[in-house]
Amino acid sequence: MADPRENLLAGVTDASERRWAQVVAVVVALVVTVMIYSGLHWTAVAPSNVETIEPGTLHLSGEFVEGNLGTAIQPDRSAVVRIVAQQYSFVPGCIVVPTDTPVTFRVTSPDVVHGFLIAGTNVNTMVVPGYVAEVRTRFDRPGEHVMPCHEYCSVGHEGMWARVKVLDRPEFERLHGGQGRASCAG
Ligand code: CUA
Repeated sequence: MADPRENLLAGVTDASERRWAQVVAVVVALVVTVMIYSGLHWTAVAPSNVETIEPGTLHLSGEFVEGNLGTAIQPDRSAVVRIVAQQYSFVPGCIVVPTDTPVTFRVTSPDVVHGFLIAGTNVNTMVVPGYVAEVRTRFDRPGEHVMPCHEYCSVGHEGMWARVKVLDRPEFERLHGGQGRASCAG
């Protein structure tokens, strides 16, 4: 004959295991629901602008031809900076922008994934071939920033970086004018 205390213990253990199994089932159901919901949500509402571009013909026509790269001051005084990130350089390799100006960076890649980061600022994004990455910012102080590639893009990755020169708006306008293109060379 079994000890009645053992039966009692077994009953308690069973009930407790069943409770825990129910808790686990609820947690799993919750996690799956969140996964399905967020999957559908982010498909319907993309987290930022999704802009596609044909990576194989960037250099031939359109926005990212060589003559259209670099800083362009718009009629509304804002700046648009277009950059091509490629193995293993940024084109152009030096960028000049004014302070106190809305600056929009538009970056794309003809080959592999690169990273676009301006040290000491909030500018940081991936550059994926086939897409245009767009980042908006504004520089409050003049100075110089390094702009390294921060996604491993094969053997030349370490050497892939550029510079960003921020000039006081009046100084910028004295050197480069208040409209049109500006480059580090002048
Ligand atoms: Cu480009 Cu790392």
